[in-house]
Formats: sequence, structure tokens, C-alpha cells
Amino acid sequence: MSDFAHRIINWQKQHGRHDLPWQNTRNPYAIWVSEIMLQQTQVSAVIDYYQRFMTRFPTIQTLAAAEQEEVMQYWSGLGYYSRARYLHHAAQTIVDEFNGEFPQDFIAIQSLSGIGRSTAAAIAAFAFHQVHTILDGNVKRVLARHFAIEGWPSSPKIEKAMWLLAESLLPKTDMVAYTQGLMDLGATLCTRSKPKCSTCPLNTTCLAYAQQRVHLLPTPKPKKISPQKYTTMLILQRGQEVMLEKRPSKGIWGGLWSLPEIDMQSIATELAQTRFGLTVEAQEPLPLLQHAFTHFKLEILPQPLEVVSKLSQTSIPNTIWLSIEDAIGAAIPTPVRKILISLRNA
Ligand code: ADE
Ligand code: SF4
Repeated sequence: MSDFAHRIINWQKQHGRHDLPWQNTRNPYAIWVSEIMLQQTQVSAVIDYYQRFMTRFPTIQTLAAAEQEEVMQYWSGLGYYSRARYLHHAAQTIVDEFNGEFPQDFIAIQSLSGIGRSTAAAIAAFAFHQVHTILDGNVKRVLARHFAIEGWPSSPKIEKAMWLLAESLLPKTDMVAYTQGLMDLGATLCTRSKPKCSTCPLNTTCLAYAQQRVHLLPTPKPKKISPQKYTTMLILQRGQEVMLEKRPSKGIWGGLWSLPEIDMQSIATELAQTRFGLTVEAQEPLPLLQHAFTHFKLEILPQPLEVVSKLSQTSIPNTIWLSIEDAIGAAIPTPVRKILISLRNA
């Protein structure tokens, strides 16, 4: 037996949970119902529901014969209601196709609606003492830490490797204590935050613990990469003053004063002429500036333009001319303030 399994079995027998309502039975129906309820739901939230459900539907036959409406009533409050519909449907399948007896064949168990590979393994281990591994979120966390496995555990590549690893660790006997021990360890010691490594039976073989990388594993789900956008900001300068333009009230930086922006296709000097009636001379662009928003990144090219002549005396709507110092103090976006500060300090 693997050293890993040995430690887990001994620990579960001494320190694991032994008195949960679905333990100390080999009734596959009772175990099945508990495993479905315990998917995505804490033990403490399940216990009362489980007792009520098993009192009303004590057998596969009573569940199969019930109206869906009543099954849903008994599930009401537990959430993830497709679990109840699948459970009810699978009970009818067992009555219709398996002679009313919960199947023992591992493939047949997985053919029932709502039962995936890990849940099938839990039922097969608890009810029939079969040697199949569970692999839920808690177990993935234990494996990722104990074997210092990098990568998000639910990515196809890592998950496949974890199934193989978990299979290789299985004991030949004591599947009930081993399976329950894996669950108990993940739920009570090797928790997501503040794991209790000092009392963990795996702490002398755990790689993450030895490398002080427990808090870094498992690798979190990769964030969606945010799109990169680009803009050019015009720094129209007339003597000591710069021009700010009021942004529309909707959208990013709504209502703030900002530097006028042009898209990459436009030519800055032409745009200053057509949009603002200003004849300008382009200066050296300032260094590019990256700004991160929640959903995208913006790369800003700040383009200084020296105003040579102004078309008319009438003021340009939505714009003001301010000294750089006053502009820095105005209601402007952070990257614009950075640009103006670098201009002032130049
Ligand atoms: N979570 C899933 N199955 C469980 C079980 N049998 N005992 C405790 N928590 C669980
Ligand atoms: Fe998890 Fe800590 Fe135990 Fe390693 S030593 S398995 S990180 S609880």
C-alpha cells in the first residue's frame, strides 16, 4: 500500500469523522443520496435535509414512485435543483432497467443521471468496498499540495494527471476509511485557507509544506486575459496652458476632464485643425503609458502639440485651457494626471 494511503487510513480511523448519518451503512441508496446532497454543499447544511429525505423516501422504490413535485419540496432550500431531478430520474431508471437494485458495476453506476466518475467511486467504495478513487475539489487540493503539482487542477491536462496519480495511490483494502479519510482531510485539515499542517498526518511527506509553498497551491484558475486597447492623447499646449476636454457622462471616466483622444488612424495635426480649429506643430511623443482597467488594458501614446495659431476667438465647446498645475488638480483620470506630472517635471 502507498505510504500516502497508509497515513490517511490510520489518521481517519483515529481522528476522522465516524458518526455522520450516512456512515456505518453499506446501503448504496443511502450512500448515493448523501453523496448527491454533499456535492457543492457543506455537511452541516446537508444533515437535516438528509434525515427528512430518507424518512420520506427510505428506498429507491419510494423515491421512484414519488411525484417530482414532492421530491423538489424535500430538496427545497438545498440549491442546485438539477441534482434532485437527476436523482429522481435515476431512481426510476434503477426500477425500470436494473430490477430495482442499485447497480454494482462501476460503469453502470456512472450511467445513472447525476453520477460522475468521482461520485460513482465514492458510492462503489462505501457501499461495495470497490477500489476506485474519488477526485473532487478537496482531493485535488490535497494532491496539488502534497505532490507540489503546479497548474490549475481543473484544467484538462492537470486533471487527467491527477486521476492517474489518485488511482496509483489507492490501497487494496480499507477503501471505506481511505475514501472517507481523503474527504475528511480535505474538509478539516487541508482547507483552502489556514490549513492545519502541524497536525496533518501527511506533514512529513508533503512537498508543499516542505517547500513552504502551501499558500501558493493549488494554482488558482487563470484569469481571462483582458483585451489590449490603444489610444493617442493630444496634449494641446498654448504657452503655459494645456487644453482639457470634458468626457461624456456615460462610459469610462464619465464626466471627468481629460486630454482629447484620437484613434490610431487619424493624424494628430489634421485633427487639431478640423476638430478644434487649431494649427499646431507636433512635438516628440512622450513615453507610452499602460493603464489597467477591470476588463481591458489601455496603452496611451501622449502626443504634445504646440499651438501655432487659432482659427477664431470663439471658445471650443466642452474644453478649457488650464495651467499644467491647475490641470493636475482638476477632476482628471489617473493616467492623465501621470502624463501631466511628467510634462511638468520635464
Ligand atoms: N462530502 C462528500 N462525501 C462526503 C462524505 N461521505 N462525508 C463527508 N463529506 C462528504
Ligand atoms: Fe495539506 Fe498541510 Fe497536510 Fe500538506 S501538510 S497535506 S498542505 S494540511
